[in-house]
Amino acid sequence: MKITILGGGGFLGRKVAARLAEMGSLGGKAITGLTLFDLVAPPPLAAPFPVTTLGGDIAELPEAAIPPDTDVVFHLAAVVSAAAEADYDLGRRVNLRGTDAVIDACRRLAKPPRVVFTSSIASFSGGQDGLLPDDTRQIPANSYGTQKAAAEMLLADASRRGFMDAVCLRLPTIIVRPGRPNKAASSFFSAIVREPLLGLETDLPVPDDFKVWVASPRRATEWLIHAAAMDTAPLGLDRSLNPPGMCVKVSEILAALDTVEQGASRLVRRVADPVIAGIVGGWPAGFEAKRAPAHGFTAHEPLIDVIRAFVADDLEATRTERGIA
Ligand SMILES: NC(=O)c1ccc[n+]([C@@H]2O[C@H](COP(=O)([O-])OP(=O)(O)OC[C@H]3O[C@@H](n4cnc5c(N)ncnc54)[C@H](O)[C@@H]3O)[C@@H](O)[C@H]2O)c1
Repeated sequence: MKITILGGGGFLGRKVAARLAEMGSLGGKAITGLTLFDLVAPPPLAAPFPVTTLGGDIAELPEAAIPPDTDVVFHLAAVVSAAAEADYDLGRRVNLRGTDAVIDACRRLAKPPRVVFTSSIASFSGGQDGLLPDDTRQIPANSYGTQKAAAEMLLADASRRGFMDAVCLRLPTIIVRPGRPNKAASSFFSAIVREPLLGLETDLPVPDDFKVWVASPRRATEWLIHAAAMDTAPLGLDRSLNPPGMCVKVSEILAALDTVEQGASRLVRRVADPVIAGIVGGWPAGFEAKRAPAHGFTAHEPLIDVIRAFVADDLEATRTERGIA
């Protein structure tokens, strides 16, 4: 089985690649090759199968990114929320035309590959008091969410036409993101845990009682891998799923942080940011998420375990990457 990860140098791309390297197989079939594609060629990865790394622009996807005998494509490459809002042309190019390029590449293959696409809860509106059933209409309040919703439609149609076999996961906000703050409007939800654990101050742009729909990197990785191997026949024409994240308040995140490291939340400064609050305030904070569990997507672990997993999996590497003693 040959696999490609587009966006393979990003946060989730690297997590999925590392998990595949640990597993050595997917859906009971041995992995025989992995291609990691990103703007800049991702670093080499130790794995029990050959790994090829490639750099380039997804909007002009080189053929080598999805070789002829590819079975699974993880399409994770994206311009994230605040960046796509700040630069309309860039967001459209990468998030929309990039997805078009993936469809064209899959059409050229002899056998339609499974395509796992990372959509987002930002493709919905609904705000703080929303509790969205699975069949809620997507009415995005930002360009990123619009591009994700449009990409879902294109991938569902490409699946209907037999060019691919797509599964689109509308991921919650993933916490705790390692490394440095990024250009996602939701970046601060990770920063309020990660930065204090590094001994650094950080800003909280929303009130403490702000609610957010989250998932951990471990859970998101497991969902993406499940999406790559699941039986898609029962999905019918509807290729998109709301996986079972969890709704938490900022105050609950800070309390869990203090349980893991006493007093760490004192490093979180309350600095209101109406622009960021405006973007994330439009995203729904709650989903019923009944359909995804019925298709084998596992329930979320408790918040405290999410923070402990960050400490176990990523804190040391983040310290090293950022040169923090
Ligand atoms: N992390 C989250 O909280 C979250 C939530 C919902 C959805 N998602 C989606 O999940 C996916 C992965 O997210 P992530 O957090 O790993 O983001 P990330 O920014 O770490 O990874 C995305 C990768 O895409 C690459 N990329 C950007 N433009 C490109 C281009 N023109 N050509 C090729 N590659 C390009 C980037 O270099 C980056 O490595 C994205 O599609 C994102 O929209 C993430």
